[in-house]
Amino acid sequence: MDYRKLIDRLSEMHSLELNEYLFLIENHKEASDYAREKAVEARKKHYSNTVFIRGLIEISNHCKNDCYYCGIRKSNTQCTRYRLSKEEILECARVGYKLGFRTFVLQGGEDYRFNDDALCDIVSSIKKEFPRCAVTLSVGERSFESYKRLYDAGADRYLLRHETIDNEHYRKLHPKEMLLSNRIECLENLKKIGFQVGCGIMVGSPYQTSETIAKDLKFIETFQPDMCGIGPFIPHKDTQFKDFPSGSADLTCFLLSIVRLIKPNILLPSTTALGSIEESGRERGILSGANVIMPNLSPESTRSLYELYNNKLHTGCESAQGLRELKKKIESIGYKIVVNRGDVK
Ligand code: 5AD
Repeated sequence: MDYRKLIDRLSEMHSLELNEYLFLIENHKEASDYAREKAVEARKKHYSNTVFIRGLIEISNHCKNDCYYCGIRKSNTQCTRYRLSKEEILECARVGYKLGFRTFVLQGGEDYRFNDDALCDIVSSIKKEFPRCAVTLSVGERSFESYKRLYDAGADRYLLRHETIDNEHYRKLHPKEMLLSNRIECLENLKKIGFQVGCGIMVGSPYQTSETIAKDLKFIETFQPDMCGIGPFIPHKDTQFKDFPSGSADLTCFLLSIVRLIKPNILLPSTTALGSIEESGRERGILSGANVIMPNLSPESTRSLYELYNNKLHTGCESAQGLRELKKKIESIGYKIVVNRGDVK
């Protein structure tokens, strides 16, 4: 097989066979320059040189789940728990709005206290105060009815990484109460309801193989998400995966390019995790085909507590100064941050 021919075909048809994805993954070192070139071409066609920003608000680190890789997993007794109040969340959104954010991403663990009533109230309050802004939720698995209520309250988008589409792999990352089938059903329900939906994976998670990644790419191709979160796995010291190595920035960037080619108009973030394992990782993600950055708007006091993995990048984008610096960095690589909702084009 010739990686150039495969990438050319992917650019045109947006689809490859499983074994072809596998070949690209296994030859990503040679293929990455060419994939990046094609991915940048594709993203420019849809989004020119613009980069969307999303204000990330980490609303709670309480979680009922025990995902083996995650620092805020239920059984981590070393984690100091917090939960933002409605007023604190609204205040984050106000600060963000003044800075130019037009999408707010409310992310948190699966916290019982954020039941439908509480969360719908928060969503509708944000939408009432900022009717022209988009609200994205990232609060895990919920019932169809719950998702529907959140949608009706005004939520526009939902992020729920599938983590891996391989059942055996999923089992090695999660306790047995958590089911891949449920995760996928959630993603399908979200789509049915009308959300713009994001799935995604960690790159280099324990027991991941080229085969499981190839299947993830095929899943992304068939599911056709509006957004896709792809970031390196980074070990957390209080988890059983503490001695596993971090995922590779090279492979992460290569996969960003491939996903861009699978769905040229996809909203593709250059993740905080990528920026955390490599200086200028986020810029590199943009140069590989990503078109979204999600700076943190969470209050200074709780930010370090939302520790999914160690050495998480702490940018100061809640301040005008921090955002100016980000803008400068993005401009220095030939791109431009824009102020709008940043919907799929
Ligand atoms: N390293 C990288 N990403 C992680 N996530 C959770 N734990 C880690 C980790 N140790 C990611 C998961 C989850 C998202 C919110 O954060 O993919 O879906």
